[in-house]
Amino acid sequence: MAALSGYPSLADLSGHDFLSSADVSGEQTTALLDLAADLKAGRMSIDLSGKVLGLIFSKASTRTRVSFTVAMARLGGQTIDLNPQVSQVGRGEPVADTARVLSRYVDALSIRTFAQEELEEYAHWASIPVVNALTDLEHPCQALADYLTLREAFGAVDGLTLSYVGDGNNVAHSLMLCGALLGVNVRIGCPQGYAPSEAVLQQSRALAGEGCSIEVVHDPVSAVRGAHALYTDVWASMGQEEEKGERKQAFSGWCLNEDLVAEADARAIVLHCLPAYRGLEISSGAMEGSSSRIFDQAENRLHAQQALLAALLS
Ligand code: CP
Ligand code: NVA
Repeated sequence: MAALSGYPSLADLSGHDFLSSADVSGEQTTALLDLAADLKAGRMSIDLSGKVLGLIFSKASTRTRVSFTVAMARLGGQTIDLNPQVSQVGRGEPVADTARVLSRYVDALSIRTFAQEELEEYAHWASIPVVNALTDLEHPCQALADYLTLREAFGAVDGLTLSYVGDGNNVAHSLMLCGALLGVNVRIGCPQGYAPSEAVLQQSRALAGEGCSIEVVHDPVSAVRGAHALYTDVWASMGQEEEKGERKQAFSGWCLNEDLVAEADARAIVLHCLPAYRGLEISSGAMEGSSSRIFDQAENRLHAQQALLAALLS
């Protein structure tokens, strides 16, 4: 059994779901980053032998699927692929039945789907922890890895400014919520009509402590000025493929390129959750430049999710 006595706030996460960045407190988020950093540095080891994580992915994935699989393997546990194409999920077996049956076999479920409500339905019926591996609303595992990467660059994240330029999507939502919990000022820069959800904006502002701001601006230069991290994501997310042309027009002038990087703090890092379309939301120069931490960020998915699984399954 994993020994997490050095991270007291994580004890309360045992057996819980992680459906949103806001499902954990600021203290727990910091403890998850501490544990992830300790696991990455080899200062800590966790034993989840005998535990099995089920992966139900209704959308494509490279990083999330592989990092969850490797995370469980490194912790001594296993994963089982319950991809809808190979299970009865794809033939329409109700969530209520699937979730109750799978709870009898596996110890946790990591689910990537479209509607947050479907994820919540799984969590309602399952008696085991359910983890959001990306929905249309949020990508909370991504945000943990992102703030771990920011912390590695600056030592601490409290009081820093992260600017996200692009679509106010699932990744932006989790960055806002998780940033608010960690005391990071989050500035979302997006064209009119592509702002994050007003409900998530209000929720993030309510979570943010004194002096921490969560803003939305509609000009790319004002969005990035002085920021410590510049972040972008695709303009058309999975499920929005038919809007690609229209979005390409709407986001013209919003490419995260070297000119925007030059407006940020001199120490600023460049982040992207990947997969990326070079020449659209990010230039090749920004992606491959000396400020880029994009591949460290991808690696950190593994460490952050090991910490999360340890907390939920211990
Ligand atoms: N960033 C991310 O979630 O990547 P995948 O879609 O490859 O899992
Ligand atoms: N916003 C993107 C993130 C991919 C990891 C999507 O939902 O497709």
